[in-house]
Amino acid sequence: MAKVIALVGSKGGSGKSTAAHLIAHGCGSLARPVPAIVLTTDPEEHPRTDRRRYVVADGRTREGLLAQMRKLLAVDRLLILLDGAAARPDLDKVVAEVADLAVLPFKPAAQDVERAVDNLNRLPQAVALPMDWPALPATAKRVRRYLNAVPEDRRLPPFKHIPRLADLLGDGYGEAAYDLASPARGLALEVLARARIDPDDLTEPR
Ligand SMILES: Nc1ncnc2c1ncn2[C@@H]1O[C@H](COP(=O)(O)OP(=O)(O)OP(=O)(O)O)[C@@H](O)[C@H]1O
Ligand SMILES: [Mg+2]
Repeated sequence: MAKVIALVGSKGGSGKSTAAHLIAHGCGSLARPVPAIVLTTDPEEHPRTDRRRYVVADGRTREGLLAQMRKLLAVDRLLILLDGAAARPDLDKVVAEVADLAVLPFKPAAQDVERAVDNLNRLPQAVALPMDWPALPATAKRVRRYLNAVPEDRRLPPFKHIPRLADLLGDGYGEAAYDLASPARGLALEVLARARIDPDDLTEPR
């Protein structure tokens, strides 16, 4: 059966789609690539059809999502990145319960962290992903309190701000793929470890 990482959270623009694509890109950029598929569930998004180191599938309608999940879950060596949508707390709850791991991105701002803590309380299986985090020490120090607001055992290491990261989801993927491979690999390995998924279990036997 395929493994599932779900990107959840009620706040719009928190980095769910970006994180889903980064993790998938990281999986596809490993020395022994892990087959990954981003399943887009947000009706507002347009699933990409360009050539990538991972696949993007359309699960934007109820029927489409069910059909894709039925088909994809049956695949033995596959990581499914379920890219959620804002303001769907009921679906987030179910998804967090059945996924191997639910990841809840949040950005360094007071409202964002407040919402993340609230979401974490409602989703005991989820871990937060501090997203778009400043790398400069002085700025990082200023937002330290947002990190500390989330218990350490409920969060992944912060993922840094990368200029023009929007290229990943857009037409600039081809040009950005090489530069993004290294940070994406780091995130993918972090998430797989947290989900207790051994990447070797998802690659073709040697
Ligand atoms: N680490 C980062 N560095 C730079 N930009 C980032 C980073 N993470 C997210 N962003 C930017 O934040 C914006 C929102 O991200 P994204 O679309 O992934 O959020 P979302 O949670 O999927 O939104 P929605 O709820 O609308 O689906 C995008 O422009 C994205 O490029
Ligand atoms: Mg999105």
